Amino acid sequence: MRFVLPKGRLLKGSLEILRKAGYNIDRPGERRLIERFNGNEVLLARAFDVPVYVEHGIDVGIAGSDVLEERRSDVFVPIELPFGKCRLSVAVPRERVLPPEEMEGFRIATKYGRIAREYFSKLGVEVEIIKLSGSVELAPKVGIADAIVDIVETGETLRANGLIEVAKVMDVSAQLLVNRVSQKTKFDEINALVFAIKEVIEDGT
Ligand code: PRP
Repeated sequence: MRFVLPKGRLLKGSLEILRKAGYNIDRPGERRLIERFNGNEVLLARAFDVPVYVEHGIDVGIAGSDVLEERRSDVFVPIELPFGKCRLSVAVPRERVLPPEEMEGFRIATKYGRIAREYFSKLGVEVEIIKLSGSVELAPKVGIADAIVDIVETGETLRANGLIEVAKVMDVSAQLLVNRVSQKTKFDEINALVFAIKEVIEDGT
């Protein structure tokens, strides 16, 4: 089987749960992005690209529900994983705290263009989305945005940048993703993987 794992915050938890489930995957080296083990292959990709790899042919991946929602990739999601818990929230500079309902005309910096657009559109609030690729908390700091929609885990990054969380957009957790064709053609292998991961979660170890 071919696995695609996200670089960054979910990598450690992803390797850990797969190892506990009996898949002794080595972390690919810093520059090497593909590693082989026991006839399997593991590749490392940017978190936002994991659902795209799985949709287009990699058998199994791990990604956050935030990324999955933003990408809307057509993949099978058999199981939620017990790590990567955080939330996607709206935050503003502490000098100008107000709810999203009052953000008409605001410039919103985010990596989550689609989610943010839909969130404000459901509220009936017209905003301008400024799509960035990371470190979005810089945008209000330097005055190119009025608010952000971003991941909050400990809240440390918001605090460090003088930002206050004013609304939660969604809860986030890591998910196991399976390619829809592999789900049928590699049914036994996928089933064994899902079963082993479920056991690890139930054991809570
Ligand atoms: C995420 C998010 C915040 C930070 C939140 O960034 O975008 O910057 O983590 O975590 P905290 O509440 O525990 O401080 P990430 O490290 O994923 O990188 P990024 O710069 O690509 O957004």
